[in-house]
Amino acid sequence: MLDYTALSVVGCQWGDEGKGKITDFLAAQADVVVRYQGGPNAGHTVTIENETFKLHHLPCGILYQGKTCIIGNGMVLDAPILLSELANLEKRGITAENLFISDRAHLILPYHRRQDSLEEEKRGDQKIGTTLRGIGPAYQDKIARRGIRAGELRDLGRLIKRIAEVLKEKNELFQRYYGDEGITMQEIEEEYIPVACRLLPYITDTALLLANQLAKGAKVIFEGAQGAMLDIDYGTYPYVTSSGTLAGNICSGAGIPPGKVGTILGVGKAYSTRVGAGPFPTEIEGPTAELIRERGREFGTTTGRPRRIGWLDGVALRQACRLNGVQHLALTLFDVLSGVGKLQIATAYRGPDGSSIEHFPAELHILEKSTPVYREFTGWSEDISRAKSIKDLPQAALEYIRGVEETAGAHVSLLSVGPRRDQTFWRL
Ligand code: GDP
Ligand code: IMO
Ligand code: MG
Repeated sequence: MLDYTALSVVGCQWGDEGKGKITDFLAAQADVVVRYQGGPNAGHTVTIENETFKLHHLPCGILYQGKTCIIGNGMVLDAPILLSELANLEKRGITAENLFISDRAHLILPYHRRQDSLEEEKRGDQKIGTTLRGIGPAYQDKIARRGIRAGELRDLGRLIKRIAEVLKEKNELFQRYYGDEGITMQEIEEEYIPVACRLLPYITDTALLLANQLAKGAKVIFEGAQGAMLDIDYGTYPYVTSSGTLAGNICSGAGIPPGKVGTILGVGKAYSTRVGAGPFPTEIEGPTAELIRERGREFGTTTGRPRRIGWLDGVALRQACRLNGVQHLALTLFDVLSGVGKLQIATAYRGPDGSSIEHFPAELHILEKSTPVYREFTGWSEDISRAKSIKDLPQAALEYIRGVEETAGAHVSLLSVGPRRDQTFWRL
């Protein structure tokens, strides 16, 4: 068991590393669980015994009774999706009396989703493959200082005026540039606003709440969304999401000072996956990729798209561990590699001029012309999904873990060998 006051769980690849599962496992000891970036583009799956939950906005702590759950100011939220998440949980006997939403979190409005689709369509064969949830446009508006924040739901008259102003601009763009019919204020007033107002009881100054909790000695988990390779600055730009996914973003996205971020736990799966377009140096196709996709159930939690599969990219993982300052690495979906045969980890890339590239390059055209340099591992055939400790793993699996550590420059402290809570064990 890891002793912590604050713990930050961050994705170290292209998302879907199992952050939800790991946060759920760790949340048993926590008092507060906080999401601080992203929105309903995230899909975090938690399996408790034989029940599976898929969360998009809600911190995984919601599945425990009595934990405080915070949707931080750094998030963008889609009220109808969030309310349907809450309603689905309620049907399954889970209530959200300890949920708090930051009054500074930005709202995804119907025009953001429309804009996301129009932008994607316009990109033609340069599509990013976004989740079409309006994430990019909502963050664009935040930075352009025309965003609408959750706290504005408190004053309807003013809110309607503000939305009408923004909508005028949006419709100009939609109609003139994209040739789209646009969205009417009536649609927003009748269909969106009454639904969004149902969030009012949850809205508060969550940074203040968090400061009070921390002062009382509460244990806090910061639950990241997406992953380091989708980070707006250090990911495979422009094939990234529109928020900062690195641990450095926790302070501004949750409203806490840097000293409170606590221990950094990175999550990386034992191979790589990516949903959507963009560079993926270790991508593989064919029977091995099919086998991994099927065994790891590698289909997007949010969009259902088949995930692209690749060998573990040690260059990307090393960058993620360095940028996040990962102190402990959780290696997930390790069971999926049983019986795959020989395994590869990319330790570097060979550049277009034959040079060895050890650090993830900023320029995509260099990456596109580079090939991975692999280190090969024997692999193992034993089923490891019932392993309870490191002693239950075959020698070849231990060698693979050492290979991951050497490449990533981080210690594998936690192993996940299946989707359930009890398929997780420490190796501190
Ligand atoms: P997240 O977005 O990082 O929370 O990850 P997702 O939930 O989108 O995707 C991870 C998937 O892998 C989910 O279906 C999990 O139930 C599943 N999963 C997590 N850890 C393990 C594991 O160790 N083994 C297996 N087989 N599945 C896992
Ligand atoms: P979790 O939290 C995997 C990807 C999309 C697309 C790119 C931009 O479950 O790990 P966006 O809709 O954010 O503008 O899309 O980012 N993407 C994810 N991929 N897991 C996620 O979240 C993702 N969230 C966004 O597929 O390539
Ligand atoms: Mg996911």
